[in-house]
Amino acid sequence: MNKKSVKDVEVRGKRVFVRCDFNVPMKDGVITSDKRIAGAVPTIEYLLNNGAKVILCSHMGKPHNIFTEGYGLTKKEKKEVEKLPAEEQAAAKAKFLEKAAGDQKKLTLKPVADRLNEYLGGKVTFAADIIGEDAKAKVAALKEGEAVLLENVRFDAREEKNGADFAEALASMADLFVNDAFGTAHRAHASTEGISHYIPAVSGLLIDKEITFMGGALEAPEHPFVAILGGAKVSDKIGVITNLIDKVDTIIIGGAMAYTFVKAQGGEIGSSLCEDDKMDLALDLIAKAKAKGVNFLLPVDNKCGAGFDNDAPSVTCDVDKVPAGYMGLDIGPKTIEIYANAVKDAKTVIWNGPMGVSEFENYAAGTRAVAQAVAESDAISIVGGGDSTAAIEKLGFADKITHISTGGGASLEFLEGKELPGIACLENK
Ligand code: 3PG
Repeated sequence: MNKKSVKDVEVRGKRVFVRCDFNVPMKDGVITSDKRIAGAVPTIEYLLNNGAKVILCSHMGKPHNIFTEGYGLTKKEKKEVEKLPAEEQAAAKAKFLEKAAGDQKKLTLKPVADRLNEYLGGKVTFAADIIGEDAKAKVAALKEGEAVLLENVRFDAREEKNGADFAEALASMADLFVNDAFGTAHRAHASTEGISHYIPAVSGLLIDKEITFMGGALEAPEHPFVAILGGAKVSDKIGVITNLIDKVDTIIIGGAMAYTFVKAQGGEIGSSLCEDDKMDLALDLIAKAKAKGVNFLLPVDNKCGAGFDNDAPSVTCDVDKVPAGYMGLDIGPKTIEIYANAVKDAKTVIWNGPMGVSEFENYAAGTRAVAQAVAESDAISIVGGGDSTAAIEKLGFADKITHISTGGGASLEFLEGKELPGIACLENK
């Protein structure tokens, strides 16, 4: 992928619309992890230092869209309102809208503007709307080296519908579109894709980095290339396994999805999670891997609990002999050793998804051990997905990983080999 980046174009004096992914976790109005904000800072700093007038835009969460006339209620709410006698409908609608307004307040980007100012020395103002009077006035007042953050772009329903009039209104504020929202690049929304139809579009430094590392690993990996895939469901990872099977030397499977493979091969899995309708596919994937000479590693032992509970009685046993009433919640010590060995001599490692229920302390050992093995290997290492990233960070290994992806769904789709609309729309070099 050879996309133009912000460094390939003139930005001085230009109004530059930068789509970021500031969809950060919040608790009681406080940002609990600002990783995504920190991830966007290099692009914003670059633009400010090079004399651009910067318009920042992001979504947060999935708000109700009450800013746009005619989009007030969700389909479900509309149906509920329509069931009521005519004279009660207005009041019911108002009640829903009042609740939506409350929800919206919680999803304002104002706290993000405050946090950005800590990184950028107070150069960011905040607009209380998206394409309204406040945004227009603040954009018009921008001087070179200053930025404004617009309000949550999903407050307008036309964002997710990729409405042409909305995308055009966003574009009319700027001379150049910079997409740096890797986490949202799998969405064809007005501010991630639609806007590129009206003004020149290039990538930010974060998207450029994601393309360089993940794209590089997929296009020209150094071998041995090991992919570690975990998580609950085979169905979530079919696309990734299918795409990687042609590229890797070893695939390591962990997490609950392993049990679909184990059961398909005739193992006893107790009450472990299993997608029965995916067992044929699991056997297919094993056969494909074998035919291509890919080392396909499944757990040999596991730690099981008598219920989905950190404190329920537990037992460690062979993965195909899980006792009735128990469910596999983590890989076992023999598996940990095999997996760590498989990673040791790798030259490229991609890891996505936990090895067990890593949020339960008693079942976090497998994920921790894999995090350690990835961190200690000399390989180019690329980690994506919330739980794997959390394990790496909790153990203090983040600086030992070549690249931690800021995308959840987006990095999975990238690994599936899909073209992401927010990247496809950018100009080629
Ligand atoms: C994410 O957190 O994965 C991105 O910000 C995309 O959010 P979405 O799933 O609400 O589109």
